[in-house]
Amino acid sequence: RLAGTRHYSNGPPLPPRYETLYKKYSEVRRVLGAQRLTLAEKILYSHLDNVEESLLSGGRDIRGNANLKLKPDRVNMQDASAQMAILQFMSCNLPQTAIPASIHCDHLIVGSRGADDDLSAGIETNREVFDFLESAAKRYGIDFWPPGAGIIHQTVLENYAVPGLMMLGTDSHSPNAGGLCTITIGVGGADAVEALVGAPWELKAPKILGVRLTGKLNDWVSPKDVILHLAGLLTVRGGTGYIVEYSGPGVETLSCTGMATICNMGAEIGATTSIFPFTEASSRYLQATRREQAARDAQLLQQFPGKGSAEDAFFKFQADEGAQYDQLIEINLSELEPHINGPFTPDLSTPLSKFKQTVKEEQWPEKLSAGLIGSCTNSSYEDMTRVESMLKAAADAGLKPAADFYITPGSEQIRATLERDGTLETFTEAGGIVLSNACGPCIGQWKRHDGVEKGTLNAILTSYNRNFRGRNDGNPETMNFLASPEIVTAMAFAGSTTFNPVTDTLTTPDGKEFRFPAPHGLEGPETPFETGKESLGVLSQPPNPDVEVAISPSSERLALLEPFDAFPASDLTGLRVLVKITGKCTTDTISAAGPWLKYKGHLPNISTNTLNTAVNAATGEVNVAYDLDGSKHTIPELAQKWKEEGRPWIVVAEHNYGEGSAREHAALQPRYLGARVIVCKSFARIHETNLKKQGVVPLTFVEEADYERIEAGDEVDTVGLYEMLRNGGVGEVSLLVRKAGSGEEFVIPTRHAVSKDQAGFILAGSALNLLSRGL
Ligand code: F3S
Repeated sequence: RLAGTRHYSNGPPLPPRYETLYKKYSEVRRVLGAQRLTLAEKILYSHLDNVEESLLSGGRDIRGNANLKLKPDRVNMQDASAQMAILQFMSCNLPQTAIPASIHCDHLIVGSRGADDDLSAGIETNREVFDFLESAAKRYGIDFWPPGAGIIHQTVLENYAVPGLMMLGTDSHSPNAGGLCTITIGVGGADAVEALVGAPWELKAPKILGVRLTGKLNDWVSPKDVILHLAGLLTVRGGTGYIVEYSGPGVETLSCTGMATICNMGAEIGATTSIFPFTEASSRYLQATRREQAARDAQLLQQFPGKGSAEDAFFKFQADEGAQYDQLIEINLSELEPHINGPFTPDLSTPLSKFKQTVKEEQWPEKLSAGLIGSCTNSSYEDMTRVESMLKAAADAGLKPAADFYITPGSEQIRATLERDGTLETFTEAGGIVLSNACGPCIGQWKRHDGVEKGTLNAILTSYNRNFRGRNDGNPETMNFLASPEIVTAMAFAGSTTFNPVTDTLTTPDGKEFRFPAPHGLEGPETPFETGKESLGVLSQPPNPDVEVAISPSSERLALLEPFDAFPASDLTGLRVLVKITGKCTTDTISAAGPWLKYKGHLPNISTNTLNTAVNAATGEVNVAYDLDGSKHTIPELAQKWKEEGRPWIVVAEHNYGEGSAREHAALQPRYLGARVIVCKSFARIHETNLKKQGVVPLTFVEEADYERIEAGDEVDTVGLYEMLRNGGVGEVSLLVRKAGSGEEFVIPTRHAVSKDQAGFILAGSALNLLSRGL
């Protein structure tokens, strides 16, 4: 029986979790009338803080215009990004998070010799970070998944995702949970903190890209191929500003974990998130993962008729009939073939039947060095048992993989279940190396032992989701291709990138021809998933104010945050141009990743990489800036020197400043070192927002030619900035420039895109200052 109290005219009582949602949805309907809505809109808009104000904030045309102020249901954080999120949350001085949250220790474990060794080594190397995260989790009542418990997205799918939920995750592949009919969006730490303190989280209403699936996948084709194909069609930018919503009869043929794989890789086309409707497979997955109540609730809602309207399909978790999509793509699953994407970009998509020819034409390596399967993208029971069927057939023929073969289970739950059901044994008997339940080679945490040195050209195939240059092993010459686990496995046996398991054969030790039978597996285990090691995963712990959050004052990896100063009660005067940058300036240029990842929780230490690959416009030198006396420094050194001298500064740059990612360190670091203004020809949108959240003012030139008139060392006063901020973002701002040598003065007009809320952030010193003030 459903718990709950409210009875609607012709429906059963609602399960408590859906009651609030339905109330909000009724408000949405009141504001929008009979307008047909997509599934994504229904769930998203039903999480609005102030429905009417948000929906109408951009006029009647919501998508692409309205500023949605959303109240997510929960926040999930991975260990690398959780550090700064927690540090920011701590500076708000709250006793607990306003909504449920979880921390997952997965990114910091290096994949090397195999699960046990790697896990103990990873725990040892990162002990202080894990201790910090665990103690913060205890203090603030956050679920804690220690190293070895699993990869964030797999754990979230298994434990937290239920239809109709809205979640934020501090990782770009968080939309994985869209496979279970949730809206889950990847964000930076500062955004996560907004939700954690109970403040509304703002999002420009996304457009909706519909993907209608028909038909049924053939033997060698897997859900991964849907998104590999789509990435080829849409490119890495094709989904920007969109939610991808799947529909059509083909959806019913997919497993829940298969749908999650497709949503996971929506990040590769730049989509805000992706979502599938609720299906029978979703229900089966909820049951297999021991969430019978959630399955029953969702099933009952399927019969719920809404407020008397047959069209009101809210709780069917489907789009309204006739709902409009901003773009619509149709994919016939029956006609789809396996795809292989790469190297170096996930949208370079080649159908398997053409891959051999492409490898030869492009002169990509024919020898395959390693095949890696699993990760948050592809380690479901279905994926693993399909591969198992291939391994068994190959073993019967006396074959072993010719290339190194690695398996990364996505969670302890899936690992323990595969162990129970004998699948892991099949992997190890075939010579596969089972790595720990962590990100490992997917995030560059891979110690190779095959003698492939940095700089050596080689090819690997993974069933992961991302394949930027150097992503897996830090070697820019490693050509990394993405495919389904089945295709990765087949090629690993062949040791060749030109092998096509559909048409080609291998030769067995006794000289016979062997053709892989079509893979087959089980969607889920016949008995529910094993929970695995009991010590893993501390859930629903009450906050405990007596727990001290573990940060050693001498730590090189963690440091408490000091709040930034508020904006002065006047315009800014005496700013100096630290550096004028030419060419691209991405978030990588501003805050490099790689070895710097280990300082993510230590703002002073990570700030020593600030702009360290920026090109000085005056000299063409990389990472060089000149002090007012002409002395030469690295950019971060001079920034630090000026910080100590109390000299605030400004950066001048060209187009698309801050392109790349939502990396909040790219805004935090300059702010920490004393940046007050960035003026450039144009900004990347997310970074521009991040700057404002950290209290840095982003301005663009009205006349691009003014870029030429302002130089490093020039002195700058803002004119009209304080007034504009006090007027909630209304008003013009210009820069009064005083040339360093001649003292000549002139005014440069600028533009800004500061909203009322953002003006408040900047005046307070940062969004966090403002938030903590209101708490
Ligand atoms: Fe981890 Fe790679 Fe997924 S880094 S969260 S396994 S995308």
